[in-house]
Amino acid sequence: MRVLVVGSGGREHALCWKLRQSPLLDELYCAPGNPGIAEVADVVSIQAEEIKKLADFAVDLKVDLTIVGPELPLTLGLADEFRSRELGVFGPRKQAAELEGSKVFAKEFMQRHGIPTADSVVVHERREAEKAARKFGFPVVLKADGLAAGKGVLIPQDKRELAEALDAFFVERRFGASGDRIIVERHLVGEEVSLIALSDGRRLLPLATSKDYKRLLDNDCGPNTGGMGSHSPSGVLSGRHAGDIMERVMRPVVSGMAEENRPFEGFLYAGLILTEDGPQVLEFNVRLGDPEAQSILLRLEDDLLPVLAEGAAGFFETERIRFRKEAAVCLVLAAAGYPDNPVKGDPIQTLATAPEVDGVEIFHAGTALDGGQVITAGGRVLNVCATGLNLREALRKAYLAAGEIRWPGAVLRSDVGRRVLTMMSSESAS
Ligand code: GLY
Repeated sequence: MRVLVVGSGGREHALCWKLRQSPLLDELYCAPGNPGIAEVADVVSIQAEEIKKLADFAVDLKVDLTIVGPELPLTLGLADEFRSRELGVFGPRKQAAELEGSKVFAKEFMQRHGIPTADSVVVHERREAEKAARKFGFPVVLKADGLAAGKGVLIPQDKRELAEALDAFFVERRFGASGDRIIVERHLVGEEVSLIALSDGRRLLPLATSKDYKRLLDNDCGPNTGGMGSHSPSGVLSGRHAGDIMERVMRPVVSGMAEENRPFEGFLYAGLILTEDGPQVLEFNVRLGDPEAQSILLRLEDDLLPVLAEGAAGFFETERIRFRKEAAVCLVLAAAGYPDNPVKGDPIQTLATAPEVDGVEIFHAGTALDGGQVITAGGRVLNVCATGLNLREALRKAYLAAGEIRWPGAVLRSDVGRRVLTMMSSESAS
C-alpha cells in the first residue's frame, strides 16, 4: 500500500515508525514531516492545513490511504475533500471533527446524550464569566471554545487569577476568535486518564489506556501544555473500568454522532478524570493524543495498517487490537520558553552521540536541520521513549536516555509516572 501521514510532530514520527514495520507497506510519505520522520518516510513539503494540495498529491502519487495526525486539517475538512475524490482516508469529516473543534458543541452533545461531564456554563463576556465562577467557586476551569493548540484551558485559583484569565480571553484576545465564547466549568478532582478508540462510524476498537502529563513542571505545576510525557498502560484504570468507560462514554458518542448525522470515523480520544462520582469527560479529541500515541504505539503488537485501511473503507473486520503486556513511556524534551514563546534554533549537539539503549526510541517533535545539525524548531522538541517489563523499568530507561540529551534551557519533567508508581506500590502493599 501507498500511505500518506499528515503532520510533523512526535505522534506522526511514532505513526510512521509503526507503519514502516508493516509488510503491507510499499511507500510511506509524510507531509510535512520532520528530520526524524525523514529517516523512515519520504517527507513532502506540503503543510498539514493545505488540504487541496494534499489531496492533489494523493491523487498524483496514487496514495491508497491517508492518516491524519493533528486536528486542524480535520476541522478544515480534509476528510471531506479526500472522500469527495474517492481517496482513502482515516479521520473524521468536518462535521464530526466539531467534537474537538468546538468545546461548546462537545459539551452540549454530552448533555444531549447523557455522557458524564462537569457542570458548566457557556459565556460570551466578562460579567457572565464572573457570575459563573461565583457559582462554581475556585479553582474554576475556563476553556476557549475553539482550537487553541492545547493551550486554551486556564484554571484560575482565586479572584486575581480569574481577572487575569478573563483579560487573556477578552482584552488581550490571546486565543483570537477561538476565545469569543468560553466555557466556565466546575473544577473536578481525580486522576486524569486518556482512552482512545478507533471508530469506523459504528464499531469501536479500543487502544491500550494511557496517561499524559499536561502541566509544564513537576508536581503538576506551571502552565498547561500539549503534554510533557505519557505512559501506557495508564496505571490508574483497570480493564474492567476501561470497559465501563467504553459503554458509558465511547459507544454513546459513536451512536449519538450517527444519530445526529455526523458519523464519527477516525481516532476518538476521551480525556477523562476519575472522580469520586465516577469517570467524567474533560474533553474529546478527534485524533490520536500526543504524546499518548508514542507510548501506545510502542506497545502495539498488531499491524496497524490493515486496521486503518478497514476503518477508511467503513468497516472493521478486525475484532480486537492486541498490545504487549510491557509498559511504555514517552518523555517530552521541550524548548526554553515553551509553551508561550519557545526558543528556536538551538543546536542539539548531543543527539547524534546519545548512546543507544535497548528498548529506547527517540521521536522528533519540533526539530529542523541547519547545515546537517539538528536544531530546535518548536515547543516540544524531542520525545525520548522506552519500553520495559513494567512502568518502573520503562521510566528508568527513558530517564537514562533523556539524561544524555541536552541543549540550553531544555525542559524535562522529572516526575512522569512517579505518583502512579507510588499508588501502585501502596496498593500492592495493602
Ligand atoms: N495529550 C493531549 C492531546 O493530545 O491533546
